[in-house]
Amino acid sequence: MRIDILTVLPKLLESPFNDSIMKRAQEKGHAEIHIHNIRDYSTHRQKSVDDYQYGGGAGMVMTIQPIADCIEKLQAERTYDELIYMTPDGELLEQSHCNAFSLKKNILILCGHYKGVDQRIRDLFITKEISIGSYVLSGGELGAAVLVDAVVRLIPGVLNDETSALTDSFQDGLLAPPVYTRPEDYNGHKVPEVLLSGHSANIDEWRNEQSIIRTKERRPDLLD
Ligand code: ADE
Repeated sequence: MRIDILTVLPKLLESPFNDSIMKRAQEKGHAEIHIHNIRDYSTHRQKSVDDYQYGGGAGMVMTIQPIADCIEKLQAERTYDELIYMTPDGELLEQSHCNAFSLKKNILILCGHYKGVDQRIRDLFITKEISIGSYVLSGGELGAAVLVDAVVRLIPGVLNDETSALTDSFQDGLLAPPVYTRPEDYNGHKVPEVLLSGHSANIDEWRNEQSIIRTKERRPDLLD
């Protein structure tokens, strides 16, 4: 899978993809992540990428020209299955979006800044608008990092234990059950007996019950 990310702050995206699972996914050839600095595409003499908004009001708007030129250059090289704009007024990111994106070949992610991008960029190019939560970030970069992480770990072969993505919270519509490791007894706080029993059917049943209890308590909306 190839992911192209368009940003005015490329440095913000250096570290999230250069460690741990994201790094390994790229080294193993499962994912190719390309970061593009929108400013490099500006034809303005001072390389500006924003301007005052029509109608007045505080805050700058990202201009069409550098973004359109960057997208059109990339589109001339390959077809994108999805062009995603990170924005607080987008669809709330869900596991189902991540599952769907992880099956795509090429996706492009545009990070907004300031007051966002000129609406015509959204109208002309964007196929999906995504928010990572009901709060406003300084820009779309951290949201893009969240989205890419959640998607890339689902690509077959990325996780060492192939089944572990399947047992994540949300994958079966339930939150994951509690997990324990050594020691068996921490200051009198013991690991549930069933997990030490070696009886896999009982363990599965306990985990499923715990998932349901946890989901009822914390995310009853998931059970609707
Ligand atoms: N840009 C600013 N806030 C955002 C959010 N909540 N989700 C995605 N992109 C954003």
